[in-house]
Amino acid sequence: MCGIVGVISDEDCQKYIFDGLKLVQYRGYDSVGICQKNNDTLKVDKVKGLIDKLVCKTSNLEGCKVAIGHTRWATHGSVCEENAHPIEGKDKEWVIVHNGIVENYQQLMCNLQREGEVFKTQTDSESIALLLSLNNFDDPIKNLIWTIKQLKGSYAICAVKKESNNYIYAAKNKSPLYAFCNDKITMLASDPICFPDGDYYKFEDGEVCVAKKGEIVFYNLNGVVIEKQKQKFQPIREKADKGDYEHYMLKEIYETPEALKNLTKNFLNIDIKNIKKLKFSNVKLIGCGTAYHSCLMGAIYFRKFLKIDAEAIYASEFRYGDYVIGSKTLCIFVSQSGETADTIAALLKAKTKKAKILSFTNVPYSTISSLSNIVIPISAGPEIAVASTKAYSCQVAGLYLLVMALKGEKHYYKALKQVCELANETEKFFINMADFAQDIAQKQKVFFIGKDSDYVTALEGALKLKEISYINCSALPAGELKHGTISLIESKTPIIVIITNKNLYEKVMNSALEAKSRGGKLYLISYKPPEICELENFEFCLSLPKVAQPLLCVVSILPLQLLSYNVSVLKGLDPDKPRNLAKSVTVE
Ligand code: AGP
Repeated sequence: MCGIVGVISDEDCQKYIFDGLKLVQYRGYDSVGICQKNNDTLKVDKVKGLIDKLVCKTSNLEGCKVAIGHTRWATHGSVCEENAHPIEGKDKEWVIVHNGIVENYQQLMCNLQREGEVFKTQTDSESIALLLSLNNFDDPIKNLIWTIKQLKGSYAICAVKKESNNYIYAAKNKSPLYAFCNDKITMLASDPICFPDGDYYKFEDGEVCVAKKGEIVFYNLNGVVIEKQKQKFQPIREKADKGDYEHYMLKEIYETPEALKNLTKNFLNIDIKNIKKLKFSNVKLIGCGTAYHSCLMGAIYFRKFLKIDAEAIYASEFRYGDYVIGSKTLCIFVSQSGETADTIAALLKAKTKKAKILSFTNVPYSTISSLSNIVIPISAGPEIAVASTKAYSCQVAGLYLLVMALKGEKHYYKALKQVCELANETEKFFINMADFAQDIAQKQKVFFIGKDSDYVTALEGALKLKEISYINCSALPAGELKHGTISLIESKTPIIVIITNKNLYEKVMNSALEAKSRGGKLYLISYKPPEICELENFEFCLSLPKVAQPLLCVVSILPLQLLSYNVSVLKGLDPDKPRNLAKSVTVE
């Protein structure tokens, strides 16, 4: 997944591109680049690393009227300046930026090399730039259409040509691409958050366009001009900034209470009767990473409160597994970005099986939202940090509200009240995890254990810590420790114990003490303080505020989010942009 931006303007092209790239760098930040164009003069600048480095390096192209930019998350070819986009074609006649994967690029590369073409990069995208130069149709849009007909896979492409026209040629298939045009500026981007306020176009698969000053002409793959409706502008997402916080992640953790309040407000607009009319007998909850973990919680709520057969499945597994679904299945897709490729593919597969499709997303105009029968907004506000925090809390609380709403009106209104109380309690509950983090920061491995919903919290806590501190973390059901993993426990190995269910307190405590007897160090997050006699067993104890028991999983993740943030900062890492990751995984 990468971020692309294009602009046509009589002035400030470079500024528009840099501002736009900063807004889409959540999609990847291994390297970044810009191509400026003034008639048949093209100037490419690119760097390995972040945008600020590029800003320092890039000089203005005199009279620049067009620019395209790219922020990369590497899929093919190492992270280096040569493989950064923009990518130049033969004789630098064409320059492109590409988000997606050319699945048949090896075949294309062999064909091109056989014709004497020389690849300068290790990227699949270069095959696009070279193909564009291979034909000299009278109209460059024909070059583009011919080229993309050679491609298999996903792409959002912006391309400029060494020609007197100051145009951008663009194409889209499976990777998101949007366009904006008024009399002052024309823009293209992976996310409409880059645009000025106003209605904009959303590309559909198989569409191409020529973007000009004041006009965008769309074509289908037969080269026929098509008329497109604009997407109604809505305050898509206020343009997030860090405010007084050092990192987005910390800000977004502290925004959890407000996000939960927004969730309850927006949930009241959901037509629950519409969902009840779907008449389903079983539920599959599908997502990736953190979103999968909220699916696990949702499955617990469906089973516990509605006695419905409910299962959480990784989207990347659902795509290729033989899961039994049909017209009586409600498939719930959870995705913060609404652009995760595996989740989109899983949704499209569920559609072919006639399942009912409901999605929870944090981006109303996203691909997943547009593909769903019913959309429930997560309402968390912009989440920029790669590690998901407030969105997870809202996903879990949102699934709880959905289940309670389906259970009946009085349960629903009680649940809304419980989530508001949860928001108020979390407002007061932000603890200092610095000492705990000191204990953990230099460890090579950390284990998280819990039962039932606490096992889900253990999974999410482990993912948070590993993805931003690079410590090898494992989560497992407390009862599973003795079935193998306990062999990894050695002196001072940290074991983080999560208990929010009083009926399970003894059982989990026994598992924890088994680990301690082998030298492990215990850290307890619990619904109640341990007995005095137990205190000596723990390096650290934290008791949680009183909230409705089914929502304790939302409050128990907060200290684990803060722990992972503190450990990452202690290790001198960037919690917002962890290595090898991106906020939205829009490729398989
Ligand atoms: C969460 O901290 C990770 N960044 C990652 O697991 C993420 O949850 C996953 O990629 C799914 O993203 P989505 O919610 O946007 O679909």
